[in-house]
Amino acid sequence: MFITFHSYKGGTGKTLLSVNLAMTLTAKGKKVCLLDLDLRAPSLSSTFNNKAPYWVNDYLSRLCDVENILTESTPDYINDGSLFVGLANPSTEAIREMSAKDRKWEMEALGRLLSLKDTLLNELGFDYIICDSSPGLQYSSINTIVVADIALVVTSVDRSDVAGTQRMLHDLYDLYEKKTGVIVNKVPQTVLSGKIPLKLDTHKLPLIEMVPCSCDILNSAGEYLFAFNNTQHPLNQSMDKIVNKIQNW
Ligand SMILES: Nc1ncnc2c1ncn2[C@@H]1O[C@H](COP(=O)(O)OP(=O)(O)OP(=O)(O)O)[C@@H](O)[C@H]1O
Ligand SMILES: [Mg+2]
Repeated sequence: MFITFHSYKGGTGKTLLSVNLAMTLTAKGKKVCLLDLDLRAPSLSSTFNNKAPYWVNDYLSRLCDVENILTESTPDYINDGSLFVGLANPSTEAIREMSAKDRKWEMEALGRLLSLKDTLLNELGFDYIICDSSPGLQYSSINTIVVADIALVVTSVDRSDVAGTQRMLHDLYDLYEKKTGVIVNKVPQTVLSGKIPLKLDTHKLPLIEMVPCSCDILNSAGEYLFAFNNTQHPLNQSMDKIVNKIQNW
């Protein structure tokens, strides 16, 4: 199964949630591939080291095979599952190159992405591909939505973010008839506890989870694997609910 994280606006929590979802599934004994498809602002190379000779960029540009972009990154304390990552090249040169790609290249990249999915799931035996993508409506983001079996759209409680998410689902996702779930992230505790009502019109969204805003996460200064070692943490409880939804969709 190919799951992509997407959002209308930047900074909503796609990278944090994609890493933690990948880790949660790995801990449940699955073979998981986490891919950085945010080629314009790669993030995962700050958490994982690339021991592979190539980057995701190179695979999309037909310079190598899928096997050449994967690094095994299963934590020592996980016995059953395995985690592999495919990283995007974070160099300034690569980012500038990716930002300059035209529509023709993006269409070819879509074909590459489809064969990447096929190879990982049908030849290499992966159970899940979890994809971190760029925010917004550029071609590269749309490519990952087209390829995905499930799209998880992350929004903040910000009014303009929710309205933009709603428009995007209506205009774009409905077109592709994707299984789509919305995750509202960084929700204030006062809202979750019911003390203050959520002032947003979220009932029109296919909401699957509200993830609490956590000072622990902010204090961790961008440590994406942050919640994993603390099984009692509310973020882990949210991840379990998201996994449950995915497995029973
Ligand atoms: N539930 C949360 N509570 C508190 N902080 C959070 C939460 N989720 C994410 N953050 C923080 O918000 C910031 C943005 O998160 P992240 O980088 O995952 O967003 P993103 O959607 O991937 O951003 P971009 O669009 O730039 O790729 C990070 O500092 C992260 O630690
Ligand atoms: Mg990100």
